[in-house]
Amino acid sequence: MKKGLIFMMTGALALSLAACSGGREGGQDAAENKAAAAPPPLPMPETVSSRPKAGPGEKLFLAKCAMCHGAVGMGTGLLARRVDEPLLEKRTDMDVDFVVQAARMGIGNMPAIPRGEVSDADMKQIAEYLVNKKEVSAAQAEGKVGAQASKREAGQ
Ligand code: HEC
Repeated sequence: MKKGLIFMMTGALALSLAACSGGREGGQDAAENKAAAAPPPLPMPETVSSRPKAGPGEKLFLAKCAMCHGAVGMGTGLLARRVDEPLLEKRTDMDVDFVVQAARMGIGNMPAIPRGEVSDADMKQIAEYLVNKKEVSAAQAEGKVGAQASKREAGQ
């Protein structure tokens, strides 16, 4: 896509140069056309620093997945071809096992994400965040905290 954009920009430049050589008026027209044809600015990519209030699972998602699954990411672009809601953070139809499986095995054009890159505990935290929009602590994700302890944490 970037290549296409550069190609288009080169084309626009060549056009405006050609128009310039045609005389003063032509040059002005070309400059106006170029401004009118400029694409709208892309949304800013979301990063850990753009969301200072992110919880632990959300932070991991931003660090490990958002470069592809953010608003302008290629994961979002490719998912838009086959699902109604291409933003993983807005999906309501996934379960934790599906997210973990898809990320570990790779799916379609998405490369498999190995444990060296995202540990099992971190992957579970990301999946819990995406599926439940609910944060779990790192200890819970590793399975070190029993049901009793997590109930206490939740104040039940
Ligand atoms: C290198 C870019 C990239 C990264 C990094 C990435 N993904 Fe993906 N992901 C994709 C692409 C592309 C697709 C769409 C695959 C297709 O449809 O061909 C996808 C699809 C998915 C899907 C499938 C959704 C569906 O309904 O089919 C899940 C789940 C998913 N990614 C989770 C994750 C998680 C969790 C992470 C972070 C740990 C992550 N991805 C990191 C590129 C990426």
